[in-house]
Amino acid sequence: MASITIRNLDDEVKDLLRRLAAENDRSMEEQARIMIRAAVEGQLGPAGRIEQIEKTLRELTGSHGPATPVAAVSNQTPRGSLSGKRILLIIGGGIAAYKALDLIRRLRERGAAVRVVMTSAAQEFVTTLSVGALSADRVFTDLFDRNDEHDVGHIRLSREADLVVVAPATADLMAKLANGHANDLGSTVLIATDKPVLMAPAMNPKMWSHPATRRNRATLQKDGIAFVGPAKGEMAESNEAGEGRMAEPLEIVAAIEALLDIRPKPLAGRKIIVTSGPTHEPIDPVRYIANRSSGKQGHAIAAALARLGADVRLVSGPVGIADPVGVTTLHVETANEMKDAVEQLLPADAAVFVAAVADWRSVTSAGEKIKKVAGEGPPALQMVENPDILAGVGHHRQRPSLVVGFAAETQDLVRNAEAKLRKKGADFIVANDVSHEGAGSPGVMGGDRNKVRIVSKAGIDEWPEMSKGEVATRLAALIAERLKTIVV
Ligand SMILES: Cc1cc2nc3c(=O)[nH]c(=O)nc-3n(C[C@H](O)[C@H](O)[C@H](O)COP(=O)(O)O)c2cc1C
Repeated sequence: MASITIRNLDDEVKDLLRRLAAENDRSMEEQARIMIRAAVEGQLGPAGRIEQIEKTLRELTGSHGPATPVAAVSNQTPRGSLSGKRILLIIGGGIAAYKALDLIRRLRERGAAVRVVMTSAAQEFVTTLSVGALSADRVFTDLFDRNDEHDVGHIRLSREADLVVVAPATADLMAKLANGHANDLGSTVLIATDKPVLMAPAMNPKMWSHPATRRNRATLQKDGIAFVGPAKGEMAESNEAGEGRMAEPLEIVAAIEALLDIRPKPLAGRKIIVTSGPTHEPIDPVRYIANRSSGKQGHAIAAALARLGADVRLVSGPVGIADPVGVTTLHVETANEMKDAVEQLLPADAAVFVAAVADWRSVTSAGEKIKKVAGEGPPALQMVENPDILAGVGHHRQRPSLVVGFAAETQDLVRNAEAKLRKKGADFIVANDVSHEGAGSPGVMGGDRNKVRIVSKAGIDEWPEMSKGEVATRLAALIAERLKTIVV
């Protein structure tokens, strides 16, 4: 029988098919074939009401699942940013497989249809039952499945999606794809697909930093595979900490939205530098001066600018969050390193200085850990001023057309921002009151919300309190608007 293109069916019929297929452990195509055969053989009653069809089909297919009205199911799947998109999720065998359950839920909330392939290792961590219930579809596990493979199911699976997501992407799955292996359903789908692929790696920090994994990642990136994460943090399975923790489900959703984004790209062809996070100024090999900046606002701005098509170069201080998708990220530690990295990235069309750069550093950084000696008291730290990166670029001979600074203040917010605007050669200053109550905890730094004022020569524009993601989206739109009026 010819293959059936499910995506061309009405949403209502698709919802019904998806549920019946999951209940009967069949593919949607197979379920559709049974329904069509039944219709052709005249076993269906008058197709007036969808509930009637559903009742008849349940009798025909022997399904005894709850007869939830189709309309009720549709309401549970609100149309959202991923409405109509089809995601093929490959779950690999790692501890983070449990997070894939939440990822499925988040994707479906946004209107995506999610189909899942689980490796056999993944089934050691989460069950096909939970995954099938959440995805409302049958879960695919076998390459040599007699029901699917008569019409080359692995090729169909790989093509009937808008995007293939691997979460968690194990060291093994990365190695297989980097080297062209195809010895199970997941790896075969990955090599057979003609759609974009996004990987969310998750593994022990030693596995992540192993030269073999680094080589595989570089190969995959060269082959056009997109990555989200991993982040730094505690490992679930041990007391170890380091880089290797899978990006959070909402970060993966944001990466998917970015990859599937088909909105206009007003910043296409524009190079924009963004700085983010704190800087660490060493005192000795184990101690440093830092601040509470989490990098959330700067990273969100970098991602928002990339979504509008900009070629974003993010210079990030040490943070515990994942590099934003679609952005080239450079990692630095100190203010001096950040300054050098920014200057090497010039010329650019715009630069946005969000990083909380330490104002001072210790004049010397001891080669050995400074010892506490009884009776000697604390060491006197002699401090020296760090370079002012914003002012340096604001007055640079290769000054970008648009320079934006951030001013985190706890008092005299507007007066300080206005002074900064004049002194630093910025076009506008985004002033945030980091003592602002209710904007995250502890305060704006590290929290998820922000309340800012845009201070420019034209005056002060006060924005209401909103999430850092919303601030980023609005600021990116403002930058796109300003750059449109600047002819290069
Ligand atoms: C308890 C446990 C946890 C594991 N966690 C991970 C992990 O987080 N990341 C990873 O790459 N491999 C992990 N592994 C190893 C993989 O399960 C193993 O390499 C497996 O072959 C991967 O198969 P897959 O890539 O087909 O899913 C873990 C193994 C065990 C036993």
